[in-house]
Amino acid sequence: MILCIPSVLAPLEVSECRKLLEAAAWQDGKNTAGYQAAKVKDNFQIPGNHPAAIQVGETILKALQTNPLFMSAALPLHFLPPMFNRYSGGQQFGTHVDGSIRTLPNGQRIRTDLSCTLFFAEPDEYDGGELIIEDTYGAKSVKLAAGDMVLYPSTSLHHVTPVTRGARLCSFFWLQSMIRSDEKRSLLFDMDVAIQRLAGGLPDDTLVSESTVQLTGVYHNLLRQWAEM
Ligand code: NI
Repeated sequence: MILCIPSVLAPLEVSECRKLLEAAAWQDGKNTAGYQAAKVKDNFQIPGNHPAAIQVGETILKALQTNPLFMSAALPLHFLPPMFNRYSGGQQFGTHVDGSIRTLPNGQRIRTDLSCTLFFAEPDEYDGGELIIEDTYGAKSVKLAAGDMVLYPSTSLHHVTPVTRGARLCSFFWLQSMIRSDEKRSLLFDMDVAIQRLAGGLPDDTLVSESTVQLTGVYHNLLRQWAEM
């Protein structure tokens, strides 16, 4: 499932984060790419231990913890610290798949179930820079408003098209979900969305209320069966 999550960061947060990011020390993105990805990767990144990366990363993760759409769709267990990239002057990132296991500085290994890209530049500030994600139903092109984020399965092949005008500034990171299977996670998300709609629909109808409680029970019992921690 590919899901766009609007307004993860508010406009004021976006502009404050951008100031910090734009003043940071940018390096060649090949430094953090695997052997194969390095051949097709052409962008700049901020080193993970840079204060701006740490501060903006914390802002993003804090915002996500209170985002109901994100929490319901991702069912996150562990996060990798957000990283930051910038593309300009024709830079691009050719087709690749993200590495499956990443290691935190403390040695903890995290399986990448979901990939996240949060946009910091408005779409009209640059030409190109679409994130193209190959889905079961074909390729999907993603270029979102500043503050919006796309969530997609880390199993997907994807690429970033050349940025031919202006600069594309994004955060990207991965998470391990409590639900490893994209299919099972999508079922739980659909069920949760339907339950929320039912619960908000007819608050005084006892019959709907009982059904809603029953469905909520089914949701939690499925989660209990499938969740890995
Ligand atoms: Ni990637």
